[in-house]
Amino acid sequence: MKKSDVISLVLTGACAAALIVAVSAAEEEVQALSKEQLAQFDKGPSSVDVSAYPAGLRENYQIFRQKCSVCHTIARPINCEFALPDEWSRYIKRMMHKPGSSISPGQAKKIYEFLAYDSSVRKKALFDDKLSKADAATRADEDARMKAILAAYAQK
Ligand code: HEC
Repeated sequence: MKKSDVISLVLTGACAAALIVAVSAAEEEVQALSKEQLAQFDKGPSSVDVSAYPAGLRENYQIFRQKCSVCHTIARPINCEFALPDEWSRYIKRMMHKPGSSISPGQAKKIYEFLAYDSSVRKKALFDDKLSKADAATRADEDARMKAILAAYAQK
């Protein structure tokens, strides 16, 4: 092996090591932050005033309360910073796959519809802010998802 090859090998190794350190430091930061965040969410209000929500979504609220309080406080999803339908959709799937969660696909859909609608009303500022920062395709998708929920649960 030429001396220059050895040097470049050593440099590559050093870069990889530096990268690994940087990545794991970043991960720890995220985890430390979210631990504190989770505690904040857990301490917040633990119910939602759904009295003005469409009847079907008031029913879904009960399913949400039952299914999403098995492993942590119900306050956690009530106070977290998810708002857009697609964020909820992805996150609920993640919760469904955790060991010990017994959420059927039908229940997950109802919980999703409740949380997306609830966010659009109760967290309107956050909801609108996220929507305005999304790219055009995402915004169109989120709008379509909201329209579908509103149409399905329109007050009769
Ligand atoms: C089987 C246990 C379990 C069930 C059931 C469950 N969760 Fe969770 N949830 C967790 C765990 C564990 C965490 C901690 C973060 C992680 O591991 O993803 C968490 C964290 C969260 C967070 C905070 C995440 C963040 O990064 O802000 C939210 C919001 C949440 N869950 C919502 C829900 C909703 C909504 C439901 C009902 C559809 C639900 N959870 C049902 C286990 C569960």
